[in-house]
Amino acid sequence: MDPNPHLAILQVVASRLSRSLDVEEVLKTALTALTHVTGHEISSLHLLSPSGAALHLRGDRGLTDELREANATLPIGEGAIGRVAASGETLVVKDAATSPLTLPTARRAVEAAGIRGFVCVPIRAQGRVLGTLSLGRQVLEAFTPEEVRLLEATADQIGVALDNARLYSETRRQLEELKRTQAQLIHAERLAAIGELAAGVAHEINNPLTTILGEIQLLLLEELPPRMRERLKIVVEESARTARIVQNLLLFARRYPPQSNPCSLADSVRRVLDLKAYQLQVDNVRVVTDYQTCPPVWADEHQIQQVLLNLVQNAHQAMRPRGHGVLTVRVKPESGWARIEVLDDGPGIAPENLKRLFEPFFTTKAPGEGSGLGLSVSYGIVAEHNGRLWAENRADGGAAFYVELPFGGPSRTVEAPPDVVPSVRPLRVLVVEDEDRVAHVISNLLKNLGHTATMALDGADGIARAVATPFDVVIVDVKMPGMTGHEFWQELVARGLPLARRTVFMSGNQRSPEMAAAVADSGAPILGKPFTVQELAAVLRVAVQR
Ligand SMILES: Nc1ncnc2c1ncn2[C@@H]1O[C@H](COP(=O)(O)OP(=O)(O)OP(=O)(O)O)[C@@H](O)[C@H]1O
Ligand SMILES: [Mg+2]
Repeated sequence: MDPNPHLAILQVVASRLSRSLDVEEVLKTALTALTHVTGHEISSLHLLSPSGAALHLRGDRGLTDELREANATLPIGEGAIGRVAASGETLVVKDAATSPLTLPTARRAVEAAGIRGFVCVPIRAQGRVLGTLSLGRQVLEAFTPEEVRLLEATADQIGVALDNARLYSETRRQLEELKRTQAQLIHAERLAAIGELAAGVAHEINNPLTTILGEIQLLLLEELPPRMRERLKIVVEESARTARIVQNLLLFARRYPPQSNPCSLADSVRRVLDLKAYQLQVDNVRVVTDYQTCPPVWADEHQIQQVLLNLVQNAHQAMRPRGHGVLTVRVKPESGWARIEVLDDGPGIAPENLKRLFEPFFTTKAPGEGSGLGLSVSYGIVAEHNGRLWAENRADGGAAFYVELPFGGPSRTVEAPPDVVPSVRPLRVLVVEDEDRVAHVISNLLKNLGHTATMALDGADGIARAVATPFDVVIVDVKMPGMTGHEFWQELVARGLPLARRTVFMSGNQRSPEMAAAVADSGAPILGKPFTVQELAAVLRVAVQR
């Protein structure tokens, strides 16, 4: 016979518990091991609630349903178990059935279960009470000091095991947290790397695209057989699409802070409609505009144009299948807001889709035709401007999209610019661009617009020419080896040349930090590569008016 069965039991409990690092597992192991103590005791284990205000039954062996219910949650400081939790001292009750320490709420259950002898010991870890361990039995026989010591020793083991489990889960949590932040960091780094790459790619792709688009636009100005004209138009569309992909890549990969400048919504609308004019015309979409006098809004013009482009694009796509349509775009002040309305006479929006339009990746279009990002990106942009964007179906068919932006900055009213912008007088334009072909195509486009063009292939050459001959406007590439566009402008200023005021910055990445710095310094207008003849004409108009 084992000379000390209690010691053996304790060893079993200790070795089992020390292997467990999970709280639930510790509780289960502890209670199972305890029944080995005498075999017929009823045991229960309570743990303090996280706030420390109550005790919760976390495990038991042999409790009747009634007892389990009466013991589910116990107050601290009251009743035998509550007192042990409060004092941290072991409590031995001779007869639970008659003891004043038995809670009135539990007495019936205790009597019914025939519990007499009872002992409760605290579970501690690092000097703090975590809970209690109780044993009861159905004979009127007090627990012996040896049994009590065994129970206390077991409770100590449980305390240590619980503390280990807590430490372990805390460590695990911290590890998870670390892993998560590390993943985020890697993600952010990857995005930054894509941003860098995109910026480089944008430069490399937009330069040849400028040449391609420019050359084709020049060709389209000539007498051509209709079949050739059709094919060239496809090339124009596909080149424009490539440019859009590059722009989107830039926009998504790099988070540029939105710039806030006073801008005329009518101008923005006009620019976007210019951009889409050709495609709309091809699909027999008539464009009706109505620009009412409206104060400027403070906004990031590029982002607002992106929103408008998405709305016009959607309207176009909705009307295209029918082969004709009317696109109505209005700008007007509306109860204290600047409002843009984009209306089409397409099929409208199915009622069940109205709520989902602005969800990312919600699309009803075929793969390749729509990614479902247009409206969600637009929604985000408008929200960032403290504005509103919503959709409705029009009473007489078709969809209506509304953008409202708050007026901001100094409240001055500007006249809506006339719908037909007068063409400018013939200008002498200096083109500073390091890529030979790009410089050539810009020069030819300028000549076609009735201007004269002089090319300079780097900043120093440009300065020399500007000093030697008077020019009306200079178009300068921002990113050039040697002298950058920004430095070129600074040199013009340093030399007191009036041309500095009529500088246009050109770039494949309109939102690069270099461009932002150059524009912030000079207030000069931007020409994004690649561009249409209309955009080139428009930027010249802006430049000469400065
Ligand atoms: N003018 C409209 N008429 C009818 N339905 C529209 C109109 N504009 C948007 N929708 C519906 O809203 C959906 C989501 O539009 P959203 O611009 O977000 O994505 P998309 O146009 O499908 O794809 P993406 O803009 O990314 O190319 C569209 O697929 C379409 O079902
Ligand atoms: Mg869209």
